[in-house]
Amino acid sequence: MRIYAEPLPNFNDIFKELSLQLFHQKEKAPEFSFRGTLYGYARKAMLDVANNISAGKDREIWFPAYICDELIEIFRRHWGGALRFYDIKDDLTPNWDSIDLKVSTKDVMSIFVLVHYFGFPNSVKEAKEFCKLNKMHIIEDGAHVMPSFEGELKVIGDAVVFSLRKIFPLPNGALLITAVNGGKNKGPKVEKKIPWEWIIRVVAKRIFKWVPTTFYGLRPLKKESLSGYRKSEIYERGISWLSLKLLKKLMQESGKIFQIRQNNYRILQSFLAKQGIEPVFNLEEKKICPYAFPLRSTKRDKIIEILRRQGIGAQFWPTLPVEVLGSNSYPTARKIQSELVILPIHQDLDFKEMSLITKALRRF
Ligand SMILES: Cc1ncc(COP(=O)(O)O)c(C=O)c1O
Repeated sequence: MRIYAEPLPNFNDIFKELSLQLFHQKEKAPEFSFRGTLYGYARKAMLDVANNISAGKDREIWFPAYICDELIEIFRRHWGGALRFYDIKDDLTPNWDSIDLKVSTKDVMSIFVLVHYFGFPNSVKEAKEFCKLNKMHIIEDGAHVMPSFEGELKVIGDAVVFSLRKIFPLPNGALLITAVNGGKNKGPKVEKKIPWEWIIRVVAKRIFKWVPTTFYGLRPLKKESLSGYRKSEIYERGISWLSLKLLKKLMQESGKIFQIRQNNYRILQSFLAKQGIEPVFNLEEKKICPYAFPLRSTKRDKIIEILRRQGIGAQFWPTLPVEVLGSNSYPTARKIQSELVILPIHQDLDFKEMSLITKALRRF
């Protein structure tokens, strides 16, 4: 059996929507009642909002050094200002001392990106104070956060972006909420093409779920490289019509998904507590929907390899930006990168699968 890193979609829903689209009259995209603008990818939403904030001005944007290169790549290509990075502390909060505003020239428009890693709110109060003092705008990166589709979403700065495809099994999908008008100024850009690549991938995953695990686990671990993320324009695309349809249904299940993710996180946390291992984030009784379970170990690669060999989709954080890898100014981000193991806790997993993960971890 295989435990994937992400949840698989409901195949009946996919094939129903697909046949409707292919053989019957094309249906209109569903309407949503929540505030915000839907996108294909969070990185494009972030780029658009950053460009809106600072249109026509000299500008710079501060990202944490602990961020994936694929997010930075779109800024390298389409952001007219300076790209800057700050280090983080051992608990993944911003290291405020590493934000050297002296490098900023006068009259430059500065944007601060605050990442809520793995769905846990990150230093909201401090970020507000710091940015107020230094006249910086704030964009919250809630790519790992499950948005609430009811009521108002709090935006601490200018905007928050969510990557819906990370929590829900969707071909793509992201949500932008801005402080001014919720971002609902125009309908989403909808990609009409059928996302065949995604459909084939998830169908294959469904089949391979039952293939003996060693085959899957023998794939070598991909190492970080200084060459950066592959240059593809796919992330310019809007949300696909299939994502819109599936999202409409998934929203009704979001309460259940929230609960399962919390329960699964707690199972891992209490198991590791018995082994004397502190979690990176303590869930306690907090009302948080975790994205995954991060674990720190100096034996990162060994743990991931052994878990994968047993069919468990443990992962490491993707490649850090080339600017970070090529510099000595971000020691903590690089240390965390070398130690972090990401374990799945998503909605497809129940007590049985979580027990398999804890059993596999017993060896360490
Ligand atoms: C922290 C963080 N922010 C933003 C993104 C980009 O999200 P998307 O893939 O929806 O563009 C990712 C992952 O890809 C991420 O991990």
